[in-house]
Amino acid sequence: MYEEYWGFKEKPFENTPNPHFLYHSQQHEEGLSRLLYVVSEGKGAGLLTGVFGCGKTLLGRTLFKELDRDIYKTAFIANPFLNYSELLMHIAYNLGARDLPQNKQDVLVNVILERLNEILENNMRDGKKTVIVIDEAHVITDRRVWEELRLLLNFQLEDKFLLTLLILGQPELKEMIDSNKQFSQRIAVKFHLGPLNEKETEEYIKHRINVAGRSSSVFAPETIKTIYKKCGGIPRRINHLCDLALFAGFGKNTSIIDEKIIKEVSFDMED
Ligand SMILES: Nc1ncnc2c1ncn2[C@@H]1O[C@H](COP(=O)(O)OP(=O)(O)O)[C@@H](O)[C@H]1O
Ligand SMILES: [Mg+2]
Repeated sequence: MYEEYWGFKEKPFENTPNPHFLYHSQQHEEGLSRLLYVVSEGKGAGLLTGVFGCGKTLLGRTLFKELDRDIYKTAFIANPFLNYSELLMHIAYNLGARDLPQNKQDVLVNVILERLNEILENNMRDGKKTVIVIDEAHVITDRRVWEELRLLLNFQLEDKFLLTLLILGQPELKEMIDSNKQFSQRIAVKFHLGPLNEKETEEYIKHRINVAGRSSSVFAPETIKTIYKKCGGIPRRINHLCDLALFAGFGKNTSIIDEKIIKEVSFDMED
């Protein structure tokens, strides 16, 4: 709507995990390279935690995009709010299994596990590595589901893991996993993403504006501190505030976003 007015080719602050917009903060860079390490070295599992909106899904999607499909067979489970056995079915389906039982009640976990083992072994024989990303994994509260995932990690051939499992979720996920010793032992890398600092917030805003197609700045320098304070360095909140500000500036026909606009739109934003 306001893209043309501000000279953007696309909206700079959409809250979608689009790898094209990735700003390589030191943390995001490190998180991404740790996840890539887990995958490329064929380690069993990796864990990425962080508060809502800090960039976990974006890192997961970025990693996914970077994986060479000639080498990797992948499944991205975006919403694991599934019951006992459903999650495994969903994973199997995403990895290409089509001959799965139709009626959920009939499903025996062992049958799906067997099927999954077959798929993983076939992938290995074809020279392919299997990577499963489970996003929003903090919603998995049923211990039996964690047990199923642990069983998946038990699949090995000649001492090699048959798959890499990357688990993404909010901070409570780390406690959930740490309290499950057997599962926790399987995790080669644990990484926590924190908020951006003030300097990074400034660079983040600049970066997204540049990627959206504008080289000159839009936000007056003094607005950065206010944005940082209001959003606590959380990218999702920064996006929301900046988007509201650009829309307000467009409505007022201003040439720059100043402190006054930021304060006005901050008022509309929940804390
Ligand atoms: N390093 C980053 N560079 C660019 N955009 C980011 C970055 N981190 C987060 N974002 C953006 O912030 C929003 C929330 O990120 P998301 O990955 O959905 O967070 P989470 O999964 O941790 O809740 C998305 O629009 C995402 O593109
Ligand atoms: Mg997410």
